[in-house]
Amino acid sequence: MSATIETVRAAPGLAGYLEAVEERLAETVASHAGVVAEVGGDALSSGGKRLRPVLAFLSAPEDAEPPVTAGVAVELVHMATLVHDDLIDGARVRRGRAAAWTAHGVEAAQAAGDYLFARAFAELAAEGDEEAVATLADASLALARGEAMQRRQRHDPDTPVEEYLERCALKTGKLFEAACVLGGGSAAYGRLLGVAFQIADDILDCAGDTIETGKVPGADLRDGTPTLPLLLAARADEVVRAALAGGPLEGVLVRVAATGALERSRQIALDYARRAREALDGSDRRAALEALADAVVDRDA
Ligand code: IPE
Ligand code: IPE
Ligand code: MG
Ligand code: MG
Ligand code: MG
Repeated sequence: MSATIETVRAAPGLAGYLEAVEERLAETVASHAGVVAEVGGDALSSGGKRLRPVLAFLSAPEDAEPPVTAGVAVELVHMATLVHDDLIDGARVRRGRAAAWTAHGVEAAQAAGDYLFARAFAELAAEGDEEAVATLADASLALARGEAMQRRQRHDPDTPVEEYLERCALKTGKLFEAACVLGGGSAAYGRLLGVAFQIADDILDCAGDTIETGKVPGADLRDGTPTLPLLLAARADEVVRAALAGGPLEGVLVRVAATGALERSRQIALDYARRAREALDGSDRRAALEALADAVVDRDA
């Protein structure tokens, strides 16, 4: 059987670590009572794969203390970006529930996202580890730059694939990288894995199932976000191209699939996953990290 994110989660010590992370997340989100704590608490309890803390754990040496603070901090930044992302993308559903801005309003969602960012840095700063703070700051800046780049690429079916990949490295790869580095592992593995993960997310947005993903597919096409599957399909199909440029959307996702762009995108994601595996050095949990590289591409959720 090929690896899934669930099988990777069975790594020794990981369940206990994730419980500790969960407890600290709940504490830190609740620390300043009010609307931001309420919205943050909702985001927390809606679940999610907790993949970034998993990466921090698997990147740490086996004989070291599990990196709980690092896991908490990277998950907080991730949650902050999701709360803001749904607002930017106009996505109403997240993790199978109403997105924060739909449930609580735009201003509450903006404030809650900012709060979650601030809590992430507060957690790391409390440990007095300046290098860790700098690593997370760097990743947060990259995230913002990636989102800005996406805005510039909007409705442009001629976006070069290279620039799409650069955007993925910024908006997703950098936080994966930070999770690995804060755990004590390979930066390159994290960055490459993050790109593979984002390509898989972009495929799921064309062909995924809401029951599995907890999101409504078609958001990228509707927003004119040139993702890899949409870019490849636009090269082969004028109707897809026009839709990506802002034209009619009806029936377009079926046409995207018919071009073979989903499978070609998957191959590129698999190539990034392979490169991620090759970037692993003498990590203690190498087998689990290798399995994760496959699991992030071929996933349903
Ligand atoms: C979604 O991330 C945002 C992307 C970077 C594609 P996840 O798929 O890790 O979201 P959750 O935390 O599991 O809900
Ligand atoms: C990833 O992109 C978002 C961030 C890295 C913040 P998407 O906008 O595709 O993420 P989803 O699909 O909404 O989770
Ligand atoms: Mg989105
Ligand atoms: Mg987005
Ligand atoms: Mg997406």
